[in-house]
Amino acid sequence: MAVVAVRQPGDRVHALAEHCSHLAGPLSQGILEDGCLRCPWHGSTFRLTDGWNITGPATAPQPAFDTRITDGQVEAQLRT
Ligand code: FES
Repeated sequence: MAVVAVRQPGDRVHALAEHCSHLAGPLSQGILEDGCLRCPWHGSTFRLTDGWNITGPATAPQPAFDTRITDGQVEAQLRT
């Protein structure tokens, strides 16, 4: 699954599914604001920590991943 990863201060990394839950917009081309990622197509915003859809038009959260950094590589596992 394609993911978008965002590195925060302190080497904390958040990862969400790349394709927006609304109409599959490319979240890696979105805008970071207030701990959220805004989709570049229609403006839905998803919280980085858990993928919750803060604003629509998306009506579903974005799949979120648990992450860790091992030997300089970011590893991500879909959160269940
Ligand atoms: S595709 Fe992301 S808000 Fe529509």
